[in-house]
Amino acid sequence: MPDIRTTAPRIVDPMLPRIARVRRRRRDGPDVWTLDVEPEVTPDAAFAPGQFNMLTVFGVGEVPISFSGDPIRPGRLVHTVRSVGPVSTALTQLGPGEVVGLRGPFGVGWPMAEAIGRDVVVVAGGLGLAPLRPALYRLLAERSRFGKIVLLYGTRRPEEILFRRELEEWRRRLDIHVEVTVDHAVGDWYGQVGVVTTLIPRASFDPPNAIALVCGPEIMMRFATAALRDAGVAEEAIYVSMERNMKCAIGLCGHCQFGPVFVCRDGPVFRYDRIRSLLRVKEI
Ligand SMILES: Cc1cc2nc3c(=O)[nH]c(=O)nc-3n(C[C@H](O)[C@H](O)[C@H](O)COP(=O)(O)OP(=O)(O)OC[C@H]3O[C@@H](n4cnc5c(N)ncnc54)[C@H](O)[C@@H]3O)c2cc1C
Ligand code: FES
Repeated sequence: MPDIRTTAPRIVDPMLPRIARVRRRRRDGPDVWTLDVEPEVTPDAAFAPGQFNMLTVFGVGEVPISFSGDPIRPGRLVHTVRSVGPVSTALTQLGPGEVVGLRGPFGVGWPMAEAIGRDVVVVAGGLGLAPLRPALYRLLAERSRFGKIVLLYGTRRPEEILFRRELEEWRRRLDIHVEVTVDHAVGDWYGQVGVVTTLIPRASFDPPNAIALVCGPEIMMRFATAALRDAGVAEEAIYVSMERNMKCAIGLCGHCQFGPVFVCRDGPVFRYDRIRSLLRVKEI
């Protein structure tokens, strides 16, 4: 399998948004919506798991949003958005047929080639499952190339669990192990309770031969990387996806600078040992 991080498509003019239209909008949580978006001119828009697009709501603004769909079906670009401020809220309110601007794909994604032949531990917190979903599709599409696949997913409350139908489908498969936990059990939740990091010591995988993909709030990633190290996973085998405010997304403006690296150009996915000291720095 070629390293898809190096085979992502070349972008002709990275600052020029392409016009796209929302084809489908689906609610995935109390304040989370998943949009299927189709570019008008070049519907075949390949991307690598972990990459992101800059999405524009014209007249409101532009924000980075990760791909959350299947990289094997790139004609349909899928983005899962949490409404937190003006632009993300405007995005979640777009209905079928409405226009959205697209720049991308940008960034360095998950290390799919390095995962070949190894156990893969995917640790997701809250909305962090969205940028990891393309990697899971890819792992399952080429299942025989990897060792055990373990998905550990945690949210604050049961109603915040994303992609429920798919999680259930994956749970029924024998070739991926899925554990879901919530911080606070409310309603009719009879599953596991506790933060996602508590699942790591109990998970069944071979730490010296494992690679870990971690995405979620930064505090969760700090504790998850510590738990993975305690379990015996090498720092060089742990990858995290960082989120920083962005403007240009092509390494020009410095807005996303994170120590010596630019998150837009050198990330958002980083090998843990390369950014360990920076993970403690709060966003400016
Ligand atoms: C590489 C990358 C991928 C991302 N992928 C997704 C995704 O798949 N889905 C999604 O919903 N969001 C994603 N985000 C975060 C998203 O870009 C921000 O939520 C958005 O920019 C907020 O813009 P706004 O105008 O709606 O709100 P603002 O008014 O700009 O911000 C509202 C609140 O959100 C906080 N915030 C803003 N930007 C970020 C950020 N980058 N990270 C954390 N907190 C932030 C602000 O501090 C503020 O508290 C991603 C960010 C990056 C850098
Ligand atoms: S967003 Fe401009 S350098 Fe990264």
